[in-house]
Amino acid sequence: MTTLIRPFHPSDIPDLYNICLKTGDNGNDASHLYEDRYLIGDFYAVPYAIYQPELTFVLVVDGRPVGYILAASDTPEFERWKSEEWFPPLREKYPKPDPDATDMRNNMLRDIHKLEFKPFDVPGYPAHLHIDILPQGQGGGWGLKLMQTLWDQLRSMDVPGVHLGVGKANENAVGFYRHIGFKLLTEHQWGYTLGKKL
Ligand SMILES: CC(C)(COP(=O)(O)OP(=O)(O)OC[C@H]1O[C@@H](n2cnc3c(N)ncnc32)[C@H](O)[C@@H]1OP(=O)(O)O)[C@@H](O)C(=O)NCCC(=O)NCCS
Repeated sequence: MTTLIRPFHPSDIPDLYNICLKTGDNGNDASHLYEDRYLIGDFYAVPYAIYQPELTFVLVVDGRPVGYILAASDTPEFERWKSEEWFPPLREKYPKPDPDATDMRNNMLRDIHKLEFKPFDVPGYPAHLHIDILPQGQGGGWGLKLMQTLWDQLRSMDVPGVHLGVGKANENAVGFYRHIGFKLLTEHQWGYTLGKKL
């Protein structure tokens, strides 16, 4: 078995969608939560690989992608691009949210259909990231190696810090992030914003 980390290649896009869906319910398979299996990847994975492909790395076992890390180096600029360039066609593709629902799917639909752009900034931690590995790639040290690969790339771009959001229910990921040096920046009702200086 050959396991390695390599830069993103455009042919990885179907795997990004699949891995995002299969880990999207607080680390577990979210297929049952999404009638459209591409929504979660359209929100949390693929736009990063399109916007800044040099900040997407893929974990590959015997040639097949089983995990990824992806990031944006300047979060407010990425949010602006999403609002102006990425979301408009998705507003045609996906339904409007149920106004009373606050589940993850409806929150994503709300963000996609929101027309006003509000820059979101975490001072000192301009980059943000997402990391997801299928069960067969977990627990072997590859999550940390993906992180180190991204941190090196961000340092080479003089980015001073990176943040991420994680749900309280995802205790495995919270434990992992804290173990590898992420500090609590903000506690929310839904989870935590964690940050790491580079
Ligand atoms: C969270 C995730 C990225 C971690 O990756 P991983 O490959 O399983 O973790 P690693 O094997 O690289 O662990 C690295 C270190 O963190 C430690 N660690 C891992 N999980 C831990 C936990 N829950 N609590 C404490 N330490 C933990 C490991 O023991 C290891 O420590 P060491 O370097 O001192 O030996 C991976 O499990 C995953 O993708 N889960 C599903 C998707 C997900 O939840 N993504 C996050 C969404 S916010």
